[in-house]
Amino acid sequence: MGRDEILKTNKTYWDSNADLWFGATALPTYGVKFVTEDDLHLFGDVSGKKILDICCGSGHSLKYLADRGSAELWGVDISHKQIENADAYLKEYGYTARFICAPMEAELDIPANYFDFVYSIYGIGWTTDLQSTFRKIASYLKRDGIFIFSWHHTLNYCVAWSRNECKDGIEDDTLIFNKSYFDESYTSIPVDGSEIILCNRKISTYINALAKAGFVVEQMAEQSDKETMEAVGDVSDKTKKAKMLPLSFCIKARKL
Ligand SMILES: C[S@@+](CC[C@H](N)C(=O)[O-])C[C@H]1O[C@@H](n2cnc3c(N)ncnc32)[C@H](O)[C@@H]1O
Repeated sequence: MGRDEILKTNKTYWDSNADLWFGATALPTYGVKFVTEDDLHLFGDVSGKKILDICCGSGHSLKYLADRGSAELWGVDISHKQIENADAYLKEYGYTARFICAPMEAELDIPANYFDFVYSIYGIGWTTDLQSTFRKIASYLKRDGIFIFSWHHTLNYCVAWSRNECKDGIEDDTLIFNKSYFDESYTSIPVDGSEIILCNRKISTYINALAKAGFVVEQMAEQSDKETMEAVGDVSDKTKKAKMLPLSFCIKARKL
């Protein structure tokens, strides 16, 4: 699958379906059934800071940081519909941001050594070139600047429920590996009557790419939230799964 085809397919999906995801994956949330910024405090004090959201979506994360006093807001997203939504959403609250509608993989008109924080909530995994994207993000950050991102945990897509009817008629639920953890190939996934193209990268792929781009990892979280971990009784399949393995992960790294 070529890079251009992947970007075109994903952009088409987001331009047509942006409204379905309005505010869905945004700070303080890092992922579904996952610990939040209220638990992790990865950002700390953002007042007066310059921030850049990679894959800014509907702008809800930018608003969250604007409410906490960020001085300058920038957002990059491949989808013009998402940028339109983000711009309108921020304006509704009296905020303005500088938006760039382009793939994060492109050479963008973004200043070098400028930002205190670059972050991406459920965005980074869309890149078709992880190493070059991390290098670009490093170039946007000041020295000691912070990069925070969250994404699907690779394990979540390798493990699925298998239902067996036992002799006594009671169903026996088992999680089984139905995809190799090592398989990083691109797959077309049908969603909402449309299609997206993604790959499932190993956690080591992210860590090694960060190191090569000049980052040091300060913290990695892969913990389901307290409510999920303490849920008992007749809980959903997603909750049961999240009690046993991380559905998301989140990394805080510092530019050296
Ligand atoms: C799950 S949403 C993230 C939402 C965002 N965190 C928010 O606060 O609303 C993923 C976003 O990534 C964008 N995207 C997908 N591929 C991209 C790419 N290659 N470059 C830039 N943005 C991309 C989509 O348009 C979409 O807005």
